[in-house]
Formats: sequence, C-alpha cells, structure tokens
Amino acid sequence: MELNNKNLLLIICGGISAYKNLDLIRNLKNLGMNIKVILSKSAKEFVTPLSIASLSKNKVYDNEFSLNNEIEMDHIALSRWADLVMVCPATANIISEISQGSAKDLITTVILASNKKVFLVPAMNSKMWENKINQQNVKKLKLAGYYFLGPDNGELACGELGIGKMSKIDEVVLMLKNYFTINNIDLKAIVTAGPTREYIDPVRYITNESSGKQGFEIAKKLRQVGFKTKLILGPSNIDAELEVDTKRVTTCDEMFNATQNSLPCDVLVMCAAVADFKFKKYQKKIKRKAQEMKIDIDENIDLLKYFSNLNQNRPKLVIGFAAETEDLLKNGKAKLLDKRCDWIIANDVSNKNLGFNSDSNKATIIYKNMEIENLPEQSKSSIASNIVYRILRQFDLNGKRDIN
Ligand code: PMT
Repeated sequence: MELNNKNLLLIICGGISAYKNLDLIRNLKNLGMNIKVILSKSAKEFVTPLSIASLSKNKVYDNEFSLNNEIEMDHIALSRWADLVMVCPATANIISEISQGSAKDLITTVILASNKKVFLVPAMNSKMWENKINQQNVKKLKLAGYYFLGPDNGELACGELGIGKMSKIDEVVLMLKNYFTINNIDLKAIVTAGPTREYIDPVRYITNESSGKQGFEIAKKLRQVGFKTKLILGPSNIDAELEVDTKRVTTCDEMFNATQNSLPCDVLVMCAAVADFKFKKYQKKIKRKAQEMKIDIDENIDLLKYFSNLNQNRPKLVIGFAAETEDLLKNGKAKLLDKRCDWIIANDVSNKNLGFNSDSNKATIIYKNMEIENLPEQSKSSIASNIVYRILRQFDLNGKRDIN
C-alpha cells in the first residue's frame, strides 16, 4: 500500500553495513517498491552488483561516469525517476562530498541535481561520527534540508561501543512508509519535550533527568513526513533548531504559554517531563545561614489535562506520556482517564538504560478504548517512527503521498 509502485533511488556506499541492503531491498520489493541502485566503487567490496541486480530486478549503476550511460543523461534521468533518494549506508566520505557540493561522479552529481528529498542513513565508527569536521558537514546538510535517520548507539562493526551504528532495517522501512504518506496536507503538530526547571532562588532549581531526546525524535519524524511541527523544548543540550522549528522554554508556566500560543494544531504530543511543583521564588540567593528559610510550594498547572479538556481549539489527537516506575499499565490507564487525552504512551523509567536520558526506550501505547500495543525495547528514534506511523494511521493517511 504505502510503498507500492513508489520509486526509490538507493545509493549504496562502502561500509560494512552495505550488506544490510540485501535484506532491505528484498523487504522493499515485497512491499511493491521499484528500486534502482547506484553502487560506489568501494561498496562493491561488500556487495556484488549481481546480487543487487537480482534482488532489485533492475540494472545496477556504476558510480563512475560512463559515456554510454551519460548519453542518456543518467544523472538527471535517475533523479527525476526517483520519488525519493536514499544513501544507505552514508559514510563520512559521502557526507563530506555532498556537503562540499561535489559533482565528481554519478552519485554526487545525481544528488546535486536531485529535485527530490534525500535521506541519509549514516553508519561509521563513533569517533568518525563525532569528529568535529564530520559534525560540521552533518550540520551543513541538515540546514540545507537533507534528512538523517540515525545513527544509533550500540556495538559497532569494529568492536567498539558508541554512536555510529546504522539504523535497523525495520526502522528504515518504517521511515519510508511514513514518508510516503502525506504531501501538501495542511496538518500541524506540537510536541513538548525535555524537563522543566522550577527555581527556588536565582541560582537553585529543581528539575529531572529528561534529556528531551524522545520528544525531539517524535517532532523530527513528524516534520519529515510533512507535518508543520513546533517543538516546545525545556532545558536540553539537543541542537534541535537544525531539524525542527523549536521554542525553548524553562518553566512549566513558560511551556504552558508556548503551547497555548502555538495552537491550533491537529496533533499535540506531550512528552515533556514537567515538574509538578513550583516555588515562590526568593528574589535573592538564599544564604547558608538563613534563620527562617521557608519554601512555599505551589502546584503547577497540568498541561496535558488542560489541553485535553479544551472546548475550543482542542487538537484532534492529544497524546500524553506516563513515566512510571511500577504498575505501568494500571497507572497508564488511570492517567488516560484522569487527563482525558486520546492515547497514553506509558514507559518504565525504573531502568537506567531505558526511558530518561538514554538512547533506548520501551513503551506501551494505551488507546482511548483501552486497547494496548507494546513497542519492545528499541532506539528512541525507532520508537518515534512507530508512534508517527500510528498517528498517520489515526488520520487515515498511510499511503496518501502524492508524487509529482
Ligand atoms: O527526555 P528523555 O530523556 O528522552 O526521556 C523521555 C521521557 C521518559 C521523559 C518520556 O518518554 C516521558 O515519559 N515523558 C513524560 C514524563 C512525565 O512527566 O510523566 P508523568 O507521568 O509525570 O506525566 C504524565 C503526563 O502529564 C505527561 O504527558 C506529562 O507531559 C504531563 N504533565 C505532567 C505534569 C504537568 N504539570 N503537566 C503535564 O502536562
């Protein structure tokens, strides 16, 4: 459905993960996609043109310019034929070439001449990924409108642990399904993410462990499939502005105002870990020997409850999260009823490697009719792709992207 008869130009570069494309191509062919592949010279060290041609059932293109091919203007024809261009795996080298605007071979020329969205699925050693020059190149490409999927954290081919692992094939397929969904449909999403900070005096505050990663991934993926997306982000180190329209806030009250001012929207995802309490703030730093130190605590507004119960401008779909350390399902269901949102996504935050400030998560979606769906442990990026897939399904949009 979503991918049937869609044209994918797949560019395979030389990295150990290149072999994963054999599985990817087989899966996508089963879903009805048309696939043409360009293999870089070094990719041929990892996969053979013959295996790619057999699986894709199409001619495989060499990266080197060939007189015969260029008589047919391959670099233009291929990019016009494609509905989407995907570089997988995207190595540090190709990222560097594209960011320089290189046009020295078929791959770089196709990308430079492309009038379609280009997705990059990076895979490399973590030090290469984190290298300042590589990060500058990535930043440049994100600003120029290229979309990235991954990389993930985990054990790398070189045996080291860290960021640089290629996104799982399942997620790449899901990303493609999500992408081929909406186009020029005027839908808007607001996502809250990160912690809030509530000050006691000018230098002291309470907050929590939320990093903003889960909400950021959801916002990024909503934007990638075509939603006009606003991310309202509490204090976080994420460079979110590069990939999504972001409003930075500090306190719960600021998050409330920013959300209110961003309405109306079709989907509201409240992933932020908002502090339940605020303080009557001391105007000056509290002295160590304060004789009568008294902290006045006030309840913060419950944003999820407030926006779920709006009479006017209520978003069509309001999704809350529940961070639980016990009785996940019971507490999640109670929150769904209490707040009157449409879905609750309950995640267990008692495990250090999941939930708060980690790269992975595991969640249970509880729908309004109390049906549940489990999303097993996976990267936050992948959890986000799964949530976005279900949002699109809710709006009955899967498979509706028009191709021009
Ligand atoms: O940011 P990360 O490090 O990636 O971690 C992600 C996460 C664990 C923070 C995220 O997945 C998550 O669970 N977010 C909700 C955290 C939370 O505050 O849960 P809660 O059970 O206390 O609140 C339930 C819901 O009410 C949430 O949707 C929350 O946004 C909302 N709420 C809470 C308090 C408040 N004053 N206003 C609210 O809207």
